[in-house]
Amino acid sequence: MNRQWWHDKVAYQIYPKSFCDSNGDGIGDLPGIISRLDDLKDLGVDILWLSPIYCSPLADQGYDISDYYNIDPRFGTMEDMDRLLEEARKRNMYIIMDLVVNHCSDEHEWFKKACQDPDGEYGKYFYIRTVKDGKLPCNWRSYFGGPVWDKLPGHEDRYYLHVFHKKQPDLNWENPRLREEIYRMINWWLDKGLSGFRIDAIINIKKALPFHDYPADRPDGLCSIHNMLHEAKGVGDFLGEMRDKTFKPHQAFTVGEVFNEKPEELPDFIGENGYFSTMFDFAETIFGHSHNGWHECIDITPDDYRSCVFETQEKVKHIGFISNIIENHDEPRGVCRYIPEGELSDTAKKMLATLYFLVRGLPWIYQGQELGMENIPVSSIEEVDDISSLDSYKVSLAAGLTEAEALRLIEKNGRDNARTPYQWSSAPGAGFTTGTPWLRVNPNYKTINLEDEKKDPDSVYHYYKKLIALRKDPAWKETLVYGELVPWLADTHNVMAYTRESVEGKILVIANYQTGPRCLPLPAPAERVLLNNYETADLRGQEVFLQGYQVLVLALSPDSQT
Ligand code: GLC
Ligand code: CA
Repeated sequence: MNRQWWHDKVAYQIYPKSFCDSNGDGIGDLPGIISRLDDLKDLGVDILWLSPIYCSPLADQGYDISDYYNIDPRFGTMEDMDRLLEEARKRNMYIIMDLVVNHCSDEHEWFKKACQDPDGEYGKYFYIRTVKDGKLPCNWRSYFGGPVWDKLPGHEDRYYLHVFHKKQPDLNWENPRLREEIYRMINWWLDKGLSGFRIDAIINIKKALPFHDYPADRPDGLCSIHNMLHEAKGVGDFLGEMRDKTFKPHQAFTVGEVFNEKPEELPDFIGENGYFSTMFDFAETIFGHSHNGWHECIDITPDDYRSCVFETQEKVKHIGFISNIIENHDEPRGVCRYIPEGELSDTAKKMLATLYFLVRGLPWIYQGQELGMENIPVSSIEEVDDISSLDSYKVSLAAGLTEAEALRLIEKNGRDNARTPYQWSSAPGAGFTTGTPWLRVNPNYKTINLEDEKKDPDSVYHYYKKLIALRKDPAWKETLVYGELVPWLADTHNVMAYTRESVEGKILVIANYQTGPRCLPLPAPAERVLLNNYETADLRGQEVFLQGYQVLVLALSPDSQT
């Protein structure tokens, strides 16, 4: 594998709306981000991914873009964006933006023109079909509920396709003119000095055509969109063209949001000359999910988590460099998902951080994760903003759950969990805003916040700093970045352990993923403790005694065999 400049970096996702509000309107913005760059630099992160800040009606919080060439005034101006690029450059940091091109907003001028003249040039930018006798072209269910077809405004018999929200019409990638428009836009941003993109929902750009039904899987008569994704062939033709016409000439860094790729396609996605530099590992994210709704999801156990991570590691080891996360803006907080209910503590949070951060690949931190931010309680459906939670609520009620049960599912799975304002301090509004925050602040901000955690050497925040520093330490970097990952004790219940092995050394990460203490064998005696989420390490030759949720990172003697 060719080495790339970004392999030894640490990436961080900013959800701009909830990060830092500079003008008191309750909405985070670009000047807010700029004012916090030093904090991020101090944490040790290098690559910053900004969720969308383009002009948008915010029907899906910016993932519905009405103008790709401008910044939404709520987030700032293009001058602010230029200043952010400049300030990041000064600090050797890299900015990447979200590239949302499966769909745009119904308020984009392309769509407005398509409504005016569906048979004209812009009509071909979308999927528009004439509907006779009320029979829609296909029975796919949109990701946010209901049919993927809606009436084209101004036309009684025409419908347009939207696999997400009805305010997110799908762009027709079969149309070469549309593709050229997209590539022009991508190049415009890269020419501006952007380092690359996180590529949204990209697998959806290829549809199985002509449109047709699949067997209905709920009483609504619709079917999961996954049927179509499974059948659709040829997304690679679009992705390869996009790479060649945009990313490659700019040497851009790209990370794909790819679900449902076909296993044999992995080298095409992230191998040498892949469509993307890297893509997220979602194996643990989607574990236990059900197409039938949140009420049928099953919890992920520590052993399941370990299997998911190791399976991905095995799959990609000779292919490329994966991106590792425990959460993002679409997911509940990782600490609430991967640590069994009732067992959450700072110690457990640090353990989880260590485990996902030191596997092979690029580690990503989602804003607030480094503070140990948690899911937020939901007391009424009125509090909920996330459109996917609102749909899931209906699905839960239709499945016979009580309102209280449906709310519990939102607490557990909803996207608002990750979107509550960043907790800067214990001041009102958590230091995020002097006004009224657009989404309620998690009541735990009085104890979980950056200002207080900076003062406490034992905080989750300081632990993340140590973790980042360890991965960058010249003494261990070669092994932690490029070393092979070899699972250790992979069949032992509630243990997650692995070595990282390179010519320069061998490092063991070993975690007791449960509350009870225990003694575990080591592959070789430890030479040095590199990181520990407890004060002491009870090493006993070829064994170690671990407290509940204790994790150790140990340098092993280099000639030891695993
Ligand atoms: C991606 C985004 C999500 C958005 C969807 C539609 O999954 O991460 O937030 O709702 O795409 O753009
Ligand atoms: Ca603001």
